[in-house]
Amino acid sequence: MRYLILSDIHGNWDALSAVQRHLRQKECDAVLVLGDLVGYGADPDRVVSAVRRLPEPVYTVRGNHDRVVTDLSLAAGFNEAAQRAARWTAEHLEESNLRYLGRLPRGPIQVAPDIAICHGSPVDEDDYLLSAGGAAEAFAAHQAPVTFFGHTHIPSAFTLAANGGGVDGERMDEGSMELDPARRYLLNPGSVGQPRDRDPRASCMTYDEKTREACWYRVEYPVRSAQKRIVAAGLPSILAERLALGL
Ligand SMILES: [Fe+2]
Repeated sequence: MRYLILSDIHGNWDALSAVQRHLRQKECDAVLVLGDLVGYGADPDRVVSAVRRLPEPVYTVRGNHDRVVTDLSLAAGFNEAAQRAARWTAEHLEESNLRYLGRLPRGPIQVAPDIAICHGSPVDEDDYLLSAGGAAEAFAAHQAPVTFFGHTHIPSAFTLAANGGGVDGERMDEGSMELDPARRYLLNPGSVGQPRDRDPRASCMTYDEKTREACWYRVEYPVRSAQKRIVAAGLPSILAERLALGL
């Protein structure tokens, strides 16, 4: 099975459609969506509808933004721009898409004997896995050999060595990594719709179960178009500006 892994699309239709065009040739058999389909971007309906139309099998977990737009009483923990975006998103989503987001499961979920997915961390869907210490906690709490996670918007890989060894963490550029069956992995594809590693290109990955090859991709998309939509929607201008900076 070859998986396409998408995370943190954040209502960015320009980025998602570019990724779909780019990855079409790569022939994936299943799609894993790691949450935050909406929030920040100006096309939540098109994004949710596109995810719902993906050919099965598709496995999706909710992100914190998906959860908040379906229950705005939870928005208090967000900064001002994110709160405004959450309210705008809730008002502009079709009822069926809002219901779809409300039904998304909380991670982690097992998608294959060796593979799990979650939004933030297998310990807590809202945790940011940014350090080897956090990754060590996650490895101790959940036993899946390979877990894909999102939320940080930073393409990255944490590896647990065999026989009680330590945890290594690294940020990932475009390229591939062959997974060692003796190790365990926490892998982040980066964000499709709002990358935060100072590279504005959409980020995603594939994983081939047979060859154990994980590949990270960066895909150019029309950032100006996504920015214009955000401004035209009356969303906070910072949400448009940050897309060009990859922040
Ligand atoms: Fe996110």
